[in-house]
Amino acid sequence: MNIAIRYFSRTGNTEKLANAISEAVNVPALKVYEPLNEKADVLFLGSAVYAAGIDETVKKFLKDNKDKIGTLVNFSTAALLPSTYAQVKKLAEDLGINVSDKEYHCRGEFMVLHKARPNAADCEAAKAFARSVIN
Ligand SMILES: Cc1cc2nc3c(=O)[nH]c(=O)nc-3n(C[C@H](O)[C@H](O)[C@H](O)COP(=O)(O)O)c2cc1C
Repeated sequence: MNIAIRYFSRTGNTEKLANAISEAVNVPALKVYEPLNEKADVLFLGSAVYAAGIDETVKKFLKDNKDKIGTLVNFSTAALLPSTYAQVKKLAEDLGINVSDKEYHCRGEFMVLHKARPNAADCEAAKAFARSVIN
């Protein structure tokens, strides 16, 4: 099974999850600026919420790589919203991309909220999630 990881992270929170997932599935975590060079059966895609939306670079990545994504598995951080899942799912499905109903989400530090999240426990949970997806 070909697995890939891409993420966008403005302040480093989602990057922590991307690195944890990378460790768990033994695949490099790359930023969304790096296109997929071959088809990924499973793409772990990481994003976060900014002003209630996801970053334009995530949208562009999906548009540019839609034909190389088998199943998209979403992971995300946010301070208030439950997850980016609904937004990513809508966007991806509009492009014809299959989206897993499994996702991983945890809180991300923002100003005075959720200090040091994702923390070690969040990262361990992300690893367990990633292993459960590919096994
Ligand atoms: C400019 C900005 C706007 C944000 N707006 C929201 C928001 O509308 N809703 C929310 O739940 N979190 C919001 N957050 C919090 C981020 O989603 C949270 O800190 C997330 O973990 C950031 O991920 P990152 O470090 O990978 O960029 C915002 C953060 C920033 C920096």
